[in-house]
Parts: sequence; structure tokens; C-alpha cells
Amino acid sequence: MYNGLSFLDTLYSDHTTMEKRIVLGITGGVAAYKAAELARLLVKAGYSVDCILTEAATHFIGIATLQAITSRPVYRDLWDTRVPNGMPHIELGRNTAAILIAPASADFMAKLVHGRADDLLSTLCLARDCPLLVAPAMNQHMWEHPATRRNAAQLTADGVTLLGPAVGEQACGETGLGRMLEPEDLFAAFTAFLQPKPLLGKRVLITAGPTFEPIDPVRGLTNLSSGKMGYALAAAAHAAGAEVTLVSGPTALSTPWGVARIDVTRALDMLEAVERRAATCDLFIAVAAVADYRPAVVAASKLKKTGRDRTPNMTLELVENPDILARIASLPAPPFCVGFAAETESMLENAQAKRLRKGVPLIVANRAQDSLGQDDAELTLIDAHGTHLLPLANKPTQARRLIEHIAQLLHPTEP
Ligand code: CTP
Repeated sequence: MYNGLSFLDTLYSDHTTMEKRIVLGITGGVAAYKAAELARLLVKAGYSVDCILTEAATHFIGIATLQAITSRPVYRDLWDTRVPNGMPHIELGRNTAAILIAPASADFMAKLVHGRADDLLSTLCLARDCPLLVAPAMNQHMWEHPATRRNAAQLTADGVTLLGPAVGEQACGETGLGRMLEPEDLFAAFTAFLQPKPLLGKRVLITAGPTFEPIDPVRGLTNLSSGKMGYALAAAAHAAGAEVTLVSGPTALSTPWGVARIDVTRALDMLEAVERRAATCDLFIAVAAVADYRPAVVAASKLKKTGRDRTPNMTLELVENPDILARIASLPAPPFCVGFAAETESMLENAQAKRLRKGVPLIVANRAQDSLGQDDAELTLIDAHGTHLLPLANKPTQARRLIEHIAQLLHPTEP
């Protein structure tokens, strides 16, 4: 059933984020209107969001909008009497996982650098004992100005995390560096920041999506894989601290925040992209639904139905594609390899046989008819010690569970 969440909405949502309180600070800039969407994503993911606006921010976004989205009071006054002890700059920072300022204007960054405390948001930032993240948003010349460069460097030196800015079209009509990150990217970066980092320092390589094996310039053989599981795993591995490369067949999905993506079409291209990187990665997760066979000959021009050679039947000669996972697993010093087994019958037996045949320590079994292209999946993890069920859930949730499981296998002593 449709629950009002897009795939990206669910990508980073997690039961472990429930009840986490965060402060979303909004300063004066036209990107403030995007803070409403950011707040919506955070609320959907289970965060309790307290919005604090500067006076300038109120010129760009309405308090009623943020109040309706967060179902919580919105603050902007240092002398707000709704906070019982009369000290909102202390009270609102208590039991807070992090403060995110989005957008952060050039002026607000300068205030942070100098420890100014002349309004609620700046005072709260000075009084905080939680992480502070800022998402700068300003005209490109303001961002490039030596004063802002110095301020950005000083904030980083002070332990503040800068998210962005991005390059692109600006409200003033110019194009350059200074745009606030899009809400979905900010959401991903922020929630990734808050997650534990069991894969910190690890390099992870993931294949995802289908392959497309051309028959002629306009046709080919492919399958129903959407890429959702592989993309969710890439996002989860990045959130767990890994440096992630995603080798993707054709999909309609956008690249998860912080992940390097390499687009390929054929199984042979996927193999080449993977082989080039396998030696330097610690973990290889093969999620792609690789075509087992490809046409022996790819026609240089479109195969015509009409013409001299027309016959009622057509035979396509296929040759076997290399098994990417088995190849990587058989390297002299392979990364930790994880395979997927999409089966329609005898799932556990077939998946176990596949694990042994491909020589991988862990294989993830699922019912092809229930999971291929779907939003949810039930997964069974099979290793040398037995099986472990990940009960039905959306793929981002399954991805996080699987990454946690793999991290435990890589560092068995850590909790
Ligand atoms: N795989 C791969 N290269 C291939 C075929 C599969 O890397 N040429 C990987 C998949 O990414 C997956 C695992 O091997 O991790 C199992 O894929 P699957 O399609 O279930 O199995 P096959 O090896 O194709 O076997 P079968 O078609 O007999 O089920």
C-alpha cells in the first residue's frame, strides 16, 4: 500500500532514529523555502524537529508552515516565554542529537566564527554541547570572498561540519558555487552523519540494477531488476562510514548522497569496472541481476522484419557471460564477498549451493518473484554457520540491517 513516502523518503528512515530530537536552524536566504521540505523528510524519518528561525529567515518562510510540518512550536525569540525556565537558548539545546543550520547565510557563518550571541539561534549554537552542521547558501561571489573562505575554514577547524554548498543556478540568476544542497541530499548527509560508523575506513564496491545486452542498436536483453536494493545498500554503507563505489546497470534511480557511481550497460562492462577496483576494496557486494547470456553477435544496424531474409521464426544465438562475483571471489586476495541469490523455488538449497559454487562467505537469499523490482523484501542470510532471517521490510531498512550484519562479521568483537 502507498504510504505517502517516496523511495528516497524511506532510503534513510530507520526505527533507530525514532525519538531523536534535532534542531533545524533557518537563517535569512531564499533557500529557506527548501527548509520546509527538509523538515518534512526529517519528520517522516521519525525525528522530532524543533525549528528556530532568525529574524531574517521570517522574510523567506512562514512560521505556520514549519509548525504544521513539524507539529511543534517554532522559535525565533531569545525571550520566548513558552519555554518554562525562560532560557530557550539552553533548553532547546538539551537532549538534542545535533543542530543543523539550513540554509546558513554568510552573515550567520561569520557570527558563528566570532561566537556572537545576539539572537536565539546564535546563542543556542554557542551554548550547545551537541554537533553542529551548517549548509551554506549564498551568491557565488559571497561564497568565494576571502572573508567567507576564512570563515568556512575556521568553522571546520572549530569542529563544525559543512554540508555543501553545491554548484548550480542561483536565485540571483547567476550560476556557480553557493547553492544550498537539495533537501534530499541534505537529509541524506545529515542522517548519515548521525549514524554509527562501523565501516569507517572501508572501501565498498557494489553492483546494482540489471544489465542490458544489446541485440542491435535499438534492442536488447534485460530483466526486471530496479536497482533499489543495490542503491539502498550503497546509501547504507556510506552512512556506515564506508567509501562506496556503485557500479550500476541502467536504472531510473538517482545516486545516493556521497556515493561514487559508475554507469555500465553490458555484463562485460560491469566486469571490467569491477575488476579495475576489486583489488583495492575491502568489501564487494554483488546485487546486480547480471544477464547470464548475451547475443553472440550484435547487429550493427537494426534487424528488419521485412526484407529478403524474412522467416516466421528467429533464432538468437547466445553465449555465456562471465560470473563477476565468482571471478572476484577467486582472486588471490579477495575482498569480503557478498552475493545475492534470487530464487523462484527451493530457495535455501539453491542459495546455499550458489554460495559454495561461487566461493563467497555470505549469500543473501530472496524469492525473485516477491522482491525483484519491489519496494519490500524478506531476506535470508546464509553463511558457513547457518541462516539468519531479516523479516519483510522496505529495502532501505533491509540494507541497513544487512550492512550491520556484515560489519559484525568484519569486526566480530565490536558490539
Ligand atoms: N552474478 C554475477 N555475475 C553473473 C551472474 C550473477 O556477479 N554473471 C552475481 C549476482 O550479482 C548475485 C549472484 O551472482 O550476487 C547470484 O546471481 P543469480 O542471478 O541469482 O545466480 P546465477 O549465478 O545467475 O545462477 P542461476 O541463474 O542459475 O540462478
